Amino acid sequence: MNNLARMDLNDVEFSSIRQLVFEHTGIALSTSKKELVKRRFTPRIKELGLGSFASYIKHVKTHHETEITKFCNAITTNLTSFFRENHHYEFLRDKALPDIIQRKALAGRRLRVWSAGCSTGQEAYCLAMTLRNSIPAIDRWDVKILASDLDEKCLGIAKAGIYPRDGFEKVSGTLISKYFIEEMQKAGNKAHLQANSELKDMITFNRLNLMESVWPMQGEFDVIFCRNVFIYFDKDTQQDLLKRYATFQSPGDYLCLGHSETISDPNAVGYKLIGKTTYIRI
Ligand SMILES: C[S@@+](CC[C@H](N)C(=O)[O-])C[C@H]1O[C@@H](n2cnc3c(N)ncnc32)[C@H](O)[C@@H]1O
Repeated sequence: MNNLARMDLNDVEFSSIRQLVFEHTGIALSTSKKELVKRRFTPRIKELGLGSFASYIKHVKTHHETEITKFCNAITTNLTSFFRENHHYEFLRDKALPDIIQRKALAGRRLRVWSAGCSTGQEAYCLAMTLRNSIPAIDRWDVKILASDLDEKCLGIAKAGIYPRDGFEKVSGTLISKYFIEEMQKAGNKAHLQANSELKDMITFNRLNLMESVWPMQGEFDVIFCRNVFIYFDKDTQQDLLKRYATFQSPGDYLCLGHSETISDPNAVGYKLIGKTTYIRI
């Protein structure tokens, strides 16, 4: 067996893994995801020097504190990019921010945005650029972006804010020159760009598992981006989360979901559809 060969996984082990994944991440793996499970966990099992899924499952249970984060990291899907689903940033620029600015210009000038499931951070940096470019005299506002994810490896990349140059196709030259600096260490001989402090200072990156029964944030969010995260959860989990988001927003606040994440009865969870996967708190 070469180093990359996947471990065998029988039905009982697969079912235990699915159960653990669901309990700890909310991700509902369908029975067709056996190959994905093998692919994602085999490297970790080998890294630990274990010979089978059975011994890994035992390890997760007996070393829960130390292993569960790595277990969760292995199964999350972290695909993201700059200005992915750009229509939401256009919506922010053209509709949501003018509305919020008008409402809050004389009332505190406080603006809070949450990127829930931020992966490696591109979404949060795009939100920061959109806010900086849309709010006149932004330095006179109290603006903060919370960017959270379950996956610590992703958060490490997000905090560093260093990305390969070839991931910037959808970022204009003007934005690049305004908000990014050439990164001198060119890992793997590829040019990299790093977000500058104007963006970084607006964002707090924190680990947050959306399945936790208590979220540590205080205060409300004018805008929540939770895009391409719900898709991995079952309907009940999605409904529960939406109801919880609603408790962190007031009527008139905005919620953006990913392209395939529609709420079947938004009214029931406190939202109204106002655009493509774009909702307003009612
Ligand atoms: C596909 S990425 C989406 C990134 C970004 N929002 C976007 O649309 O480009 C999904 C992210 O959700 C995170 N995630 C999955 N389950 C989670 C949970 N229970 N709590 C917090 N984040 C979770 C994953 O770690 C992953 O980084």
